[in-house]
Amino acid sequence: MVEEVIERESPTAAWSSTGSATGSKALPLADVDRHAEARKPTGDRELDRVLGGGLVPGSLVLLGGEPGIGKSTLLLQVALLLGEKVLYASGEESAQQIRMRAERVGLNGPGCHVLSEVSTAKILQAAEHLQPDVLIVDSIQTAHNPQLDSAAGSVSQIREAAAEFLRYAKARHVPVILVGHITKDGHLAGPKVLEHMVDVVLQFEGDRHHLFRMLRALKNRFGSTQELGIYQMDGQGLKGVANPSGLLLGQREEGLSGSAVGIPSEGMQPLLVEVQALVSSAVYGTPQRSCTGFDTRRLNMLLAVLEKRCGFRLGAKDVFLNVTGGLRVEDPALDLAVCAAILSSNSDIPIAQGMAFAAEVGLGGEIRPVHRLEQRINEAGKLGFDTVFCAKQSGVKAGKVNGVNVVPVKRMEDLVGALFG
Ligand code: TYD
Ligand code: MG
Repeated sequence: MVEEVIERESPTAAWSSTGSATGSKALPLADVDRHAEARKPTGDRELDRVLGGGLVPGSLVLLGGEPGIGKSTLLLQVALLLGEKVLYASGEESAQQIRMRAERVGLNGPGCHVLSEVSTAKILQAAEHLQPDVLIVDSIQTAHNPQLDSAAGSVSQIREAAAEFLRYAKARHVPVILVGHITKDGHLAGPKVLEHMVDVVLQFEGDRHHLFRMLRALKNRFGSTQELGIYQMDGQGLKGVANPSGLLLGQREEGLSGSAVGIPSEGMQPLLVEVQALVSSAVYGTPQRSCTGFDTRRLNMLLAVLEKRCGFRLGAKDVFLNVTGGLRVEDPALDLAVCAAILSSNSDIPIAQGMAFAAEVGLGGEIRPVHRLEQRINEAGKLGFDTVFCAKQSGVKAGKVNGVNVVPVKRMEDLVGALFG
């Protein structure tokens, strides 16, 4: 239960004739000042792309992610790279710890000021004093307004703190970045209202034990939410990964059954990822289905399609699926690669090294087209693939496209025929 203070409305109706003299006036859209937003590039290519070009002055950005994923590292790097006056206020680490981390990532930003503080009033005081070009607050859960009774991290504290930083951002026209923790089930801890208040919600995700970390925009008032930033954590901090496909596929083993390469397009950039499947007879009564990096429900659906439409007896088999590199792929264009990997494992026949797959699979076993197919084919060609399977409906003709042999397939049976004869 949260107590809420409701302001009393003025007794005169806002729309009465007396009030109209001071009231706001609607403008034709064309008369509104365009006021080109001068975005501040952060110096981090991946982050800039996800933000849509950089930080917008006066915007409030929320960066969410599980503990240990690298939120503090990312923002400290940004603070050091920006080359402007930045206030990095941390309620989680001491100034010494932040200094040590800065040395670890090997950057020295002369404009970066650090403050170890939890009180929102003191953080904002320091900001008023320093007049930074960017304010970073790590994290919103530790920010605390002593005037409120409730404990730090409680709903009312988080909401109040976010509101204070929002007022500061708008009043001083300074971008403010807040770090937010994520609960076990993947939601931003704290009230949903936080996501409504801020202009941009970024999510940093990935498995701590895997190669890649991904940065996505869940909400962006100044750009698209399509872009995906990919990072790699090493001993010297986070590095943007320019060619993730090359890195991912570099570890492929030759002649292994159950492996297929798909071409999902997360953001504007198509990626080539390896899908591995393991199909084996179930030892226990109920067969297991387990996925890493892919939606389990989608896997179940694809298994049902393979069973019902193509007659493969997979109902009594354990099926494990893994998208390598720790990527989580949502693009349905991966469907065909998933099916190919499952069939390959099931029959124990490897798929040729140079083949890649880009199509969605429908409930009827039909192969469906995906958007931006040409870019996907080009990306595959760049990485040395010679054959791409896609949907017949996508309108491409069988034959060479930029040196890649394109094979349109209409139904699942066609794929089975083409792959395994
Ligand atoms: P951190 O940024 O503190 O995560 P968050 O703020 O999201 O909780 O750090 C994440 C992990 O990254 C930490 O466990 C240590 C590791 N790390 C490296 O591997 N290399 C580095 O250079 C740094 C700074 C951290
Ligand atoms: Mg942290």
